[in-house]
Amino acid sequence: MNDTALHQQLLGLREQIRAHNHRYYVLDDPSVSDAEYDGLMQQLQAIEQAHPDWITQDSPSQRVGAAPVGHFAPVHHAVRMLSLGNAFQDQDIYAFDQRVQSILIESGLLARQPTGESDSPQPDLFAPGSAQPAGVDYLAEYKFDGLAVSLRYQHGQLVQAATRGDGTEGEDITANIRTLRSVPLRLHGDAQAPEILEVRGEVLMARADFAHLNQQQLVRGEKPFVNPRNAAAGSLRQLDPRVTASRPLRFYAYGWGQIQDGTGQNMLPHATHAAMLDWLAGFGFAVSPGRQACRGAAALLDFYQTVGALRPTLPFDIDGVVYKVDSLQAQDLLGFVARAPRFAIAHKFPAQEETTRLLGIDVQVGRTGALTPVARLQPVFVGGVTVTNATLHNEDEIRRKDIRIGDTVVVRRAGDVIPEIVAPVLQHRPADAQVFDLLAVCPVCPECGSAVERPEGEIITRCTGGLFCPAQRKQTLWHAASRKALDIDGLGDKLIEQLVDGGRVHTLADLYSLTELELSTYPRMGRKSAANLVQAIAASRQPPLSRLLYALGIRHVGDTTARDLARHFGTLSAVMDASEDALLQVPEVGPVVAASIRRFFAEAHNREVVTALQEAGVQPQTEAPPQGLKALAGKTLVLTGTLPTLSRDEATRRVLAAGGKVSGSVSRKTAWVVAGSDAGSKLTKAQELGVAILDEAGLLKLLDA
Ligand code: IVH
Repeated sequence: MNDTALHQQLLGLREQIRAHNHRYYVLDDPSVSDAEYDGLMQQLQAIEQAHPDWITQDSPSQRVGAAPVGHFAPVHHAVRMLSLGNAFQDQDIYAFDQRVQSILIESGLLARQPTGESDSPQPDLFAPGSAQPAGVDYLAEYKFDGLAVSLRYQHGQLVQAATRGDGTEGEDITANIRTLRSVPLRLHGDAQAPEILEVRGEVLMARADFAHLNQQQLVRGEKPFVNPRNAAAGSLRQLDPRVTASRPLRFYAYGWGQIQDGTGQNMLPHATHAAMLDWLAGFGFAVSPGRQACRGAAALLDFYQTVGALRPTLPFDIDGVVYKVDSLQAQDLLGFVARAPRFAIAHKFPAQEETTRLLGIDVQVGRTGALTPVARLQPVFVGGVTVTNATLHNEDEIRRKDIRIGDTVVVRRAGDVIPEIVAPVLQHRPADAQVFDLLAVCPVCPECGSAVERPEGEIITRCTGGLFCPAQRKQTLWHAASRKALDIDGLGDKLIEQLVDGGRVHTLADLYSLTELELSTYPRMGRKSAANLVQAIAASRQPPLSRLLYALGIRHVGDTTARDLARHFGTLSAVMDASEDALLQVPEVGPVVAASIRRFFAEAHNREVVTALQEAGVQPQTEAPPQGLKALAGKTLVLTGTLPTLSRDEATRRVLAAGGKVSGSVSRKTAWVVAGSDAGSKLTKAQELGVAILDEAGLLKLLDA
């Protein structure tokens, strides 16, 4: 190939790679596999290696390459980078809209409706030349929770990228920004690029990318980041661009700074903010997704509600929405006050993270005896509620996050999730902050004084008191009464606490002797609710076996396992007397679960509870497997080699129809291996493990049984 043709090929490769980057990182719609992409990049690099003089700064191969820098050089912004005024309440938005309207009406950009009603929350307006009642046209956008940056393009080439800094002067982060594949190194598309174009927007890290990065940090023994925003900030302010390149950052454009034509004149190619953003998208930027045209304050508030509901499902964090007057002429007229424009406002969501003081760490005893540290906090308003407690999970978690009593901590409550402590704020750590030591605080169970233990290799410390421990007893009762267990409506935690503390109820069986008269003497228990509760307890005397098994609160036995056990064994006594081997025959039951079930029923006390339940008239009901008892119900078979008459598909279909399962690998749980001619390693494995081996005739006999 001659040089001209090779150079053509190089230009073609660059275009292809740019297009793939755009599809992948901007449109979120990749059209080639990673391997194909890597192949193109390798071809490009090979040509560039042979012809270093052909390398240009806008080549996709040149995203990383710059050497680490000692510091970030200051950058003076040609057009100031502003911040936004914040609003939290609907009234603030009505007031904002009113202000905008009156200025625009005064200036003749918006006409008042001739017959406006004075008592409406906002004057009814006609847009100029329109016969419909109207309001101001806005563009509503997400408020991205990342970092503002300004990207400067000259002759269509990215020449500089800067942080916002104080709005007037930022820092030069060009080398780092070049590593973001969602940032075009050269403006795309056919539209005529202005001589100078500054594109402004936000750099952020998507939540999934953040979670993945934090996992990697842990694996490498490095400290995880507190939240996606901090991770993005830390990644962007790296003196070594290679580090930034390894971090999954994205850029979303929401505005612009300086735009000039070839004669040095400022220019604006479009008349509205929305059209400007579309214009930027044409140059290859990811532009403010979720943006929406809204007319009037009520439409803005609708947008706020809709986005608020969407917020937990978005791929990235947002901390509010932003409303911008759409007409650029109107924007110009509205101008600025101090450092914020009068034509735009941020409508913030209640913060999901706040800082507060960690006053102490209490220890709660759970149903299975787990000693769980719970943070006692200086009350703080976060995620829309006042939070006073937050889970700390376990001791290792506290140590890993280096949380100490007395620290100022970041508390997070997102959606309906239980509040948690994200991290301490180390700058504010007082000299007397205390390290938490669970065993020092709880040498014995704080509820019952029994010994506590933390088995080797486990992260949970437990009270060994079992149902002797009132805390475990209460939790067990609460669990037994829950919806998926015996579903006893009206047995709340307060009542359970009184029943246990008063010594009236020791075990589940005691519930069945409670009378209406006696219950009605408890605080907040009327005759009626007492009667209802007694009825609910009575109605729970004939539970399906699976629910009773679940209600017993055996460690590692959730509702699904309870159902598997019930179907497999049929009766409570069969489960109670099952050996570990017999338990291991149940699909999905492994050694840990089997051992836990054995341990539970080996305990005399637990057997006594079961006897007492039976004496109280509790009779679990046998559950038939879903489609009646089938020949291969609960059995797993492995097919290997070629069978004489049955095809693999046909054999599989017939096993499934008989209630069995077909697996691709042999284990001790395999009931049979069905081997045909040319059977290979699976047959050997079956022989090693002592799994029964059948031929086709044997399988057919089973199926007929
Ligand atoms: S516009 C003239 N739009 O919010 C207005 N800002 O509080 C300039 N931000 O520093 C900003 N999403 O980092 C605008 N859709 C959005 C935004 C947004 C997030 C950030 C930006 C800015 C801060 C102002």
